Amino acid sequence: MVGTSTTALVGIGSLVTNDPTVADDALGVLRDAAVVIEDGRIAWIGPAAQCGPADRQVDLDGRTVIPGFVDSHAHLVFAGDRADEFAARMSGRPYEAGGIRRTVSATRAATDEELRARLRRLGSEFRSSGVTTFETKSGYGLTVLDEERSLRLAREVTDETTFLGAHVVPQEFEDDPDAYVDLVAGDMLAACAPHARWIDVFCDRGAFDPEQTRKILRAGSARGLVPRVHANQLQHGDGIRVAVEAGAASADHCTFATDEDLELLAGSSTVATLLPGAEFSTRSAYPDARRMVDAGVTVALATDCNPGSSFTTNMPFCIAVAVREMGLTPEEALWSATAGGAAALRRDDIGVVAVGKRADLVSLDAPSHVHLAYRPGVNLIDRVWTTPDTPRVTS
Ligand code: NIG
Ligand code: FE
Repeated sequence: MVGTSTTALVGIGSLVTNDPTVADDALGVLRDAAVVIEDGRIAWIGPAAQCGPADRQVDLDGRTVIPGFVDSHAHLVFAGDRADEFAARMSGRPYEAGGIRRTVSATRAATDEELRARLRRLGSEFRSSGVTTFETKSGYGLTVLDEERSLRLAREVTDETTFLGAHVVPQEFEDDPDAYVDLVAGDMLAACAPHARWIDVFCDRGAFDPEQTRKILRAGSARGLVPRVHANQLQHGDGIRVAVEAGAASADHCTFATDEDLELLAGSSTVATLLPGAEFSTRSAYPDARRMVDAGVTVALATDCNPGSSFTTNMPFCIAVAVREMGLTPEEALWSATAGGAAALRRDDIGVVAVGKRADLVSLDAPSHVHLAYRPGVNLIDRVWTTPDTPRVTS
């Protein structure tokens, strides 16, 4: 019989659990706490003084421990560089969806090994910024073979993979976008579905209209993929409505949202995933997260790591911007980057520190979680614990 081994994390000054039954505050914070990990799962949580013996003991010397960040929106399968577009935007040029086509050319020309190397590099950046679960999308291949390959490679680093063949209409279909929609909803979807859990459409100016979006999401749902939608990043429109009507797990960006959009979100199981890195790097107005939370919308924060609109893997940076510019409290921002991300991925095994959940934990070189926003740009990540992948039952 294979024996199990236990690790006790002791000396935790402040433990953020996201479990409202633990303490009477927004994040379920336990002071002077300990956590016991067994086989990658949390086996015990409580006051340090009551912690029993374990095979290994790690003294965190008063540090803060939080659930690992859950990044529910990233685009990591790509090649090339668009730093010149960023520089041009900082001199006043607006962001346009069309820049995606430059990355498509570079991605099609890249070898599998080049794409793998980038995925590994960004995956390790995520880990060192405290991200313990991340989603990633295709969307820079836009042929059947290149989309299938993107998802196959993405699956090597995460099982939260999203088919985004409908990112933009590629050059070769410029004169017949509906033929491209048919390809995405037909042969491309058939090739990609085995490697994906989710299906996404960029429903916005310069990308796909609501009717095209509905058609693609319906085809994806029929193959067992769950929708998520890039909605209302560039202008007001029907993206959020389409997402809610499709039963999407998330409507992402939501930079432009009417009261009616917020009502729709609040009355649904669709999470609003906000991406502060995108507004930061495109010099756009930030979404009003305060208004969303007050309207009863579930809000997630994600990095949107991609070469065009948001080339960051740093969740603490996103938290700091969400607090400074989008009206979230430090508690709300941390919740959104952990439990909110888990909700956007419809996962209940992550984003919370509770017995039986995955032991995905991050210790911070800080006396409280508030320092994530209070010390912007400073690396506070001390150590990251992640659960080795075990087969997971998906809903
Ligand atoms: O989420 N908005 C669409 N897709 C990405 C940007 C992709 C790019 O510019 O390469 C986003 O911001
Ligand atoms: Fe995106």
